[in-house]
Parts: sequence; structure tokens; C-alpha cells
Amino acid sequence: MDSHILSAWNEFVSTVNLVPGVSGIEFGSGTGINTITISQQGFQMTGIDISPTVIQKAEELAQNKGEIVEFIVGDMFATNLRPESFDFAVNIWTLHVVGEQHLRAKHLSECYRVLKPGGYLFLHNESSDKDMLDPNEEVVIEEVKEWNIPELTNKFELPNGERIQVSFPTHMPPDLSGRRSLGEHKDELEKAGFKVLKCYGDEMQCSPSIPGNKVMVAFAYKEK
Ligand SMILES: C[S@@+](CC[C@H](N)C(=O)[O-])C[C@H]1O[C@@H](n2cnc3c(N)ncnc32)[C@H](O)[C@@H]1O
Repeated sequence: MDSHILSAWNEFVSTVNLVPGVSGIEFGSGTGINTITISQQGFQMTGIDISPTVIQKAEELAQNKGEIVEFIVGDMFATNLRPESFDFAVNIWTLHVVGEQHLRAKHLSECYRVLKPGGYLFLHNESSDKDMLDPNEEVVIEEVKEWNIPELTNKFELPNGERIQVSFPTHMPPDLSGRRSLGEHKDELEKAGFKVLKCYGDEMQCSPSIPGNKVMVAFAYKEK
């Protein structure tokens, strides 16, 4: 796990007083390094990702490290997980690949749904120093074809037939980027039902070649 992320994560653990043994889920777990690092701290971890390829790699990494972690292929916008299953949820560098606000809202609602009452959410994603979206504007998925860079964009069809597109934010025009200001991030968390404990900027740069694209960290919880 990157040292900046680890330090924010450790601050989260002490702030919300997570005790070893409780259960957590990382959404968009990729090849598993965050999920496995958190598991090594004594938490009972599940990682979920839409890509079977990265899930296979994550399983291999966990096996090599002797860590017992459950990795599952699934969609962070609509999982089949039971409600109120986890004590905490994690989103590291996955929300910032989602530009469309209605999909971000869908994911945050899914986080809320699978958390137990009193459960916590940790987010570490790219930020913007200015507001990015008119909150009343709905982004139509078809419009993104104009700036679509195929090799940087994943397209998915959900089981219900809905098409979604996930792209790397630094290649998007500002109004479709997955970057958000601290205020916008806090607002989207509150709209999903969360109480925000902390939401702050970090000096870490996601892509050092792109000026100003720093990271933000948020700690939130679902009320009991
Ligand atoms: C930038 S990577 C971050 C991976 C990991 N969290 C990390 O920090 O190393 C974003 C991940 O989100 C996954 N992803 C994208 N859309 C998803 C979806 N709808 N459901 C679950 N995972 C998704 C991608 O497959 C990718 O592994």
C-alpha cells in the first residue's frame, strides 16, 4: 500500500477506533494490495472488483502472502451482498474513476446499504481545488463518446442492461472528471445518508505530471 494511503488509513483506524477482527470491504479492490494490507492488520477483509482478471491476481497475491481474504467479482454500483454486512467499507482510487454523478451516488448508496448501522466508510481519491459540477446537471452517458479514448476507458454492461463507462479522470474534460472538490465530496456523502467525520486534502499527487490533481481523504459513518 502506498505510504500516503497507509498513513491516512492508519489515521482512520485510530479516529474511528476500529478494532481487529471486525469486517470490511474494499470496493474496486484491483490487484488487492490495499485489501491485503488491511487484512494483515487483523481485519476480516473482502475485496470486490468488476474485473475477473484483477480478482485472480489479487487471489494469487493473498495466497503468496498467506493472507485469508475473500475476493469476489462484482459491481460496486449494485452488488449482491446482503445489507448491513460490514463494519467498514473502503474506496481507494476507485470513486475517482467515476465521473457521472448519478453513478457516484449509486455507489455511495451501495456502500451505505452494505454497512452495518454505526459502520464506517474510508475514501481516498483524487480531488479538485474547485467545484466540478453543476449539481443539478445530469450527465448523459452517450455524450462521453466525444472524448472517449478507447485504451483508457472501460465499458461495461450491467446485468440489468444498463451501460456504464468508467474512465481515467485525468483524461476527461473537467465537467465529466471523477475529481470533486472537498465541498462536493462532502455533499455527495451526505446525500447518500452518511455523516461526515472528516474530509480533507492531502498533498499527495495522483499524477505528478498534471498540476493540481491532489488527493482528498474522507471518513464517514452510517448512523446507528
Ligand atoms: C484505479 S483502480 C484502483 C484499484 C485499487 N483500489 C488500488 O488502489 O490499487 C480502479 C479499480 O476499480 C475497478 N472498477 C471499475 N469499475 C468498477 C465497478 N463498476 N465495480 C467494481 N469495480 C470496478 C477497476 O476494475 C479497477 O480495478
